[in-house]
Amino acid sequence: MDITERFRQVFGSDGDIREYFAPGRVNLIGEHTDYNGGHVFPCALTIGTYAAARKRDDRIIRFFSDNFPEAGILQTSLDDKEYRKELSWCNYPRGVIFAAAQAGYAVDSGMDILYFGTIPNSSGLSSSASIEVLTGFIIRDLFGFDFDGITNAKLGQTAENSFIGVNCGIMDQFAIAMGKKDHAIFLDTATLKYEYVPLDLTGARIVIMNTNKKRKLGDSKYNERRSECERALADIQKIRDIRTLGDLDEEGFLAVQDAIVDPVCRKRAKHAVFENRRTIRAAEALRDGNLSLFGQLMNESHISLRHDYEVTGKELDTLVTEAWQQDGVIGARMTGAGFGGCAVALVREQAVPAFTAKVGEAYLRKIGYDAAFYVAQTGDGPVRKS
Ligand code: GLA
Repeated sequence: MDITERFRQVFGSDGDIREYFAPGRVNLIGEHTDYNGGHVFPCALTIGTYAAARKRDDRIIRFFSDNFPEAGILQTSLDDKEYRKELSWCNYPRGVIFAAAQAGYAVDSGMDILYFGTIPNSSGLSSSASIEVLTGFIIRDLFGFDFDGITNAKLGQTAENSFIGVNCGIMDQFAIAMGKKDHAIFLDTATLKYEYVPLDLTGARIVIMNTNKKRKLGDSKYNERRSECERALADIQKIRDIRTLGDLDEEGFLAVQDAIVDPVCRKRAKHAVFENRRTIRAAEALRDGNLSLFGQLMNESHISLRHDYEVTGKELDTLVTEAWQQDGVIGARMTGAGFGGCAVALVREQAVPAFTAKVGEAYLRKIGYDAAFYVAQTGDGPVRKS
């Protein structure tokens, strides 16, 4: 699709119209660790969000999504800083514009922006973070701001936390803003130190498996998990001087776990600590070319997310347990927040067609509707295309 052409149809053709793209992301391992001071290991994808944008001379902002054309043009103003339910998805870009203003990057005029996304909604591949990072990138370019990719990621996270009301960590926005083709990003969320690790998969492919179950109630459950971890941390801090759960290793956790009063919070914290250590080991395994260890750590990650963190559900568990039984599978786990959305598997290239056919068949039989499969292509962070 020609995004600029579509923009002209919707908004008229005058002015300097620019075209942009930002990716989605898939997380290979390190789930629910990013708000616990732990590590994550995501990569940016070639699916993502396209946009065309131009400045206006007034303070009006007009949004249009070609994914929801029936909603028409949604109009608002720079001076309306309230979250508006009726503006639905536009609250993501609005949140970024307001977060940028608070950080000292106030746009001095309105804009028209048309978006078109190729990430399935509510799939756990970060369609909202993609819109956020793209919006930060657009205003940076249109208004000549000089913030870097990490600042852009933080603007997106601030928009989620303060405007949308999801207390997410930095992983999604960071993976998108800092994405690099053929690499995964090994990020320490406590310090924001990061390393690009080459995705040298020696003939294996990253297969994304979509449950096609939308994440209903996902946001409130997400915030609940986060506060359970915070309660666990507060209990541990009564007896041990740590800043985050990411400061503990497995032995350290086992030594202090009895300080956590609520057994549910204890399980959540255990996942956060053990998942962080798995992620560190997985990045090392990939650097060493030890794919089978990487796969085993993915499998352990899923088991922990299922039993200790309890964010999988029958759709994700069906996809993953079916995946584990197939020839050529190296590892499989849920990815993203959970409660529906996607799982990710590492599969030997020649086994991919039979893998998707068999997992797909079993899923349909057990769940009653189809899953979808994509062989992931990794990509770079946001770009201006014209
Ligand atoms: C969502 C959040 C991220 C991260 C993951 C779980 O994608 O936006 O910050 O917490 O869930 O790992």
